[in-house]
Amino acid sequence: MSNRMAIVLAAGKGTRMKSSLYKVLHPVCGLPMVEHVIRSVKQSGVSQIVTIVGHGAEKVQEVLGDYSQYALQEEQLGTGHAVLQAKDLLGTLDGTTLVICGDTPLLTGETLTELFDTHEKSGAKATILTAIADDSTGYGRIVRSANDEVAKIVEQKDAQAAELAIKEINTGTYVFDNQALFNALSHVTNDNAQGEYYLPDVIELIKADGDVVSAHIMDDMDEAIGVNDRVALSQAQRTMMRRINLAHMRNGVTFGNADSTYIEPDVVIGNDTVIEAGVHLKGQTIIGSNCFVGMNSEIVDSQIADHVTITQSVIEESIIGERTDIGPFAHIRPNSVLGKEVHIGNFVEVKNSRVGDETKAGHLAYIGDADLGKKINVGCGTIFVNYNGKSKARSNIGDQAFIGSNANIVAPVNVGEKGFVAAGSTIINDVPAEALAISRTEQKNVPNYWEKLSKK
Ligand code: UD1
Ligand code: MG
Repeated sequence: MSNRMAIVLAAGKGTRMKSSLYKVLHPVCGLPMVEHVIRSVKQSGVSQIVTIVGHGAEKVQEVLGDYSQYALQEEQLGTGHAVLQAKDLLGTLDGTTLVICGDTPLLTGETLTELFDTHEKSGAKATILTAIADDSTGYGRIVRSANDEVAKIVEQKDAQAAELAIKEINTGTYVFDNQALFNALSHVTNDNAQGEYYLPDVIELIKADGDVVSAHIMDDMDEAIGVNDRVALSQAQRTMMRRINLAHMRNGVTFGNADSTYIEPDVVIGNDTVIEAGVHLKGQTIIGSNCFVGMNSEIVDSQIADHVTITQSVIEESIIGERTDIGPFAHIRPNSVLGKEVHIGNFVEVKNSRVGDETKAGHLAYIGDADLGKKINVGCGTIFVNYNGKSKARSNIGDQAFIGSNANIVAPVNVGEKGFVAAGSTIINDVPAEALAISRTEQKNVPNYWEKLSKK
């Protein structure tokens, strides 16, 4: 294997996106397009990656961090000019250089590795990754000579009618002998419809030197998509969703309706888990085995243990223990840790709280900034009053405590183990273990009220 390097083109503004967000930062399944590209490039055995940045340079560098080195293209004079900006970093090296666009997020590490391998075996100075498109609109066309060899690439805007009909397109991905690439680049001109220095023009120049140029045709046009506008962005997202969901199915996950299920690339799901229609699983979420995630649930950056049931609920940045059940219509907000066999029922919100094993909050409660022990009953309508208008405070509830319905637990306050809070109480002082706290006006009955009323 030769010394493998890569140049990622990410300096364009992406005018066709009609967006204030730079094109390569538009997300596909939650990750910026250029990050998908860099992840795939990393899998192809490269020792060095240079990303060409320009529009939104700082933002792009912030996203990619030290995944890559960077070269700045101050003015966007075309893809050939962009590659030339890597000359200071790579120009003198021997080896094979992959050039790839930051707007082709579906290309896989396997395809790029195959491209490198084919190129290195063939002895060509350049190998273009091409695909056969049903609709080649917008792509550079691969023009072949009578003997079927690649002659050149023609951009759509420069193409003759016959060339426009060509179905074989340039994916914008190539591998080059590094020296041949930089030699040819210095001869590229901007004499074309867009007045740009086109990278594809190096193909003809390399051929003119008597060197071999070949093409590696990929089977799957969906993988080659170059995202220039929102229509293509939506297509890319659909393809990525399908790819991710298929991988989970192959790992033993059941989908109610995979077409409507959105799962981001880093999510992990155990086998025999069932994911229903409309579910969104985002970020660094891990879901165990034998779980049920009911329709339209959204889980973000959370860890869910085995045998958990989640019904139409939202969970963010939280940890859920084994055999716990949540929902329907519950909201578990950031920094919550639920133990095993916890029951969080409908219209219960939990935020920044610990909830011990087998504790139950069946209906209509707010548990915020609280530490709850094990086997506690939180009655319907209970509110942990955590905010006094200026600052937040925590409450602490001991194991096996019983909180009656419609109680207000005004933080900071402690309820001891096996403490009772009577329904409707507002608790502002600590409740000792095993005591009953009751704080509500005494009930008064007015006899014969019906009769009195009718005499008025
Ligand atoms: C390019 C190719 C086309 C190919 C298609 C595949 C050229 C001239 N055309 O067209 O043959 O079929 O990709 O998707 O190369 N960029 C810079 N600096 C610049 C210009 C562009 O860094 O000065 C970057 C962009 O950020 C983008 C990539 O290069 O990531 C490709 O540019 P784009 O404008 O999308 O080219 P296409 O028109 O798609
Ligand atoms: Mg493009």
